[in-house]
Amino acid sequence: MALFIKAEELKGLISITEAVDAVERGFASQEDHPLFSLPRQRMLADDRRISVHSGGCVPLSVAGTFVHYERHNYTADDQSYAAVGTRVYVCYDSETGALLAVIAGCPPFYRREAPGDEFATETAVTSAVGTRRLARADARVLGLIGTGRQARRHLEAMCAIRPITEVRVYSRGADHRRAFCDTMQPCVDAELRPVERPEEAARNVDIVVCATGSNVPVVFGRWLEEGVHVTSIVGSNKELLLEGLVSRPRRELDDEVLARADVIVATLVQQGIQDEQGDLLEPVRNGVIAWDDVKDLSALVTGKTRGRRNDREITLFKQNSDQGVGYMALARLAHDKARAAGIGTEF
Ligand SMILES: NC(=O)c1ccc[n+]([C@@H]2O[C@H](COP(=O)([O-])OP(=O)(O)OC[C@H]3O[C@@H](n4cnc5c(N)ncnc54)[C@H](OP(=O)(O)O)[C@@H]3O)[C@@H](O)[C@H]2O)c1
Repeated sequence: MALFIKAEELKGLISITEAVDAVERGFASQEDHPLFSLPRQRMLADDRRISVHSGGCVPLSVAGTFVHYERHNYTADDQSYAAVGTRVYVCYDSETGALLAVIAGCPPFYRREAPGDEFATETAVTSAVGTRRLARADARVLGLIGTGRQARRHLEAMCAIRPITEVRVYSRGADHRRAFCDTMQPCVDAELRPVERPEEAARNVDIVVCATGSNVPVVFGRWLEEGVHVTSIVGSNKELLLEGLVSRPRRELDDEVLARADVIVATLVQQGIQDEQGDLLEPVRNGVIAWDDVKDLSALVTGKTRGRRNDREITLFKQNSDQGVGYMALARLAHDKARAAGIGTEF
């Protein structure tokens, strides 16, 4: 029998670090079975999009698809969600072929969630997989750019994987920065502090996380100090560009960030190529980096490509899209937790 699980039923059952461990195993399996996954596929009509993330992890005996639908608002400077449908996981036991589970919604891993806002919980988990491998082990000061949904989750995820004691928070709205710090302070031990300029969140910090809806760079390479790790999450606006609705690809980083990074890892390089993602494509076109300089997360977690070599190197994780292998690893974890806790409905 398969299990139908409403994501909210999983509340309190999966810790952030359990989720990070699972997603890392998913990406490790991608290295052995690269043809058992596809880059995220998107079907697009200007601001409408269906996204399908398919893949399988043989070591976790799971395979399937995660699907979601959105509409979004956009300007030259930023974009945000206008309408969001419930996300759905469909997963099979990859060894027996049996349907394992259908999960409606995204698993809740975090202490703080706003009602109606529970989607895309997986992104900060994937960010934490790359960041855990690349940031200095003693990273204590986090610069967080963005004060929305992803920023909240990235704050909790980064504090779960590193001994963060201080967080400097920036986004354009002073009221957003203050509200973020007030709301999120009870969720972490680190001291949260709003800062007035983005460079205050990027200079003299150990980790910079860009978790924004920006379409223009928010972190500039000239601000980065030796030893820092940068994580960035915005992807592509290829559909809007193709239809002539915007004139520039999305960026969250300027070219100098890529130029100064000693190690550049993307969740999946092929995703950047397929989606013509500005943060990778433009530095390649500008001759700042070559595609070969960007390595896959699967190669990083399996040790097939190097991570940080010393405390002075600058590292970059371009979390350029969650992948089916990560979603399926989470689906396996969620299914097993649900079975053990006796939740969900058999069908
Ligand atoms: N890589 C992945 O797998 C993945 C998955 C899901 C989502 N995402 C990306 O995550 C982005 C954010 O999603 P969300 O749900 O967190 O959106 P959200 O709740 O709307 O938050 C967006 C935040 O970005 C800030 N912001 C926008 N422009 C900025 C700028 N120039 N400088 C500083 N802060 C800026 C906004 O604050 P202010 O208005 O105060 O500036 C806001 O706090 C999406 O656009 C999407 O591309 C990536």
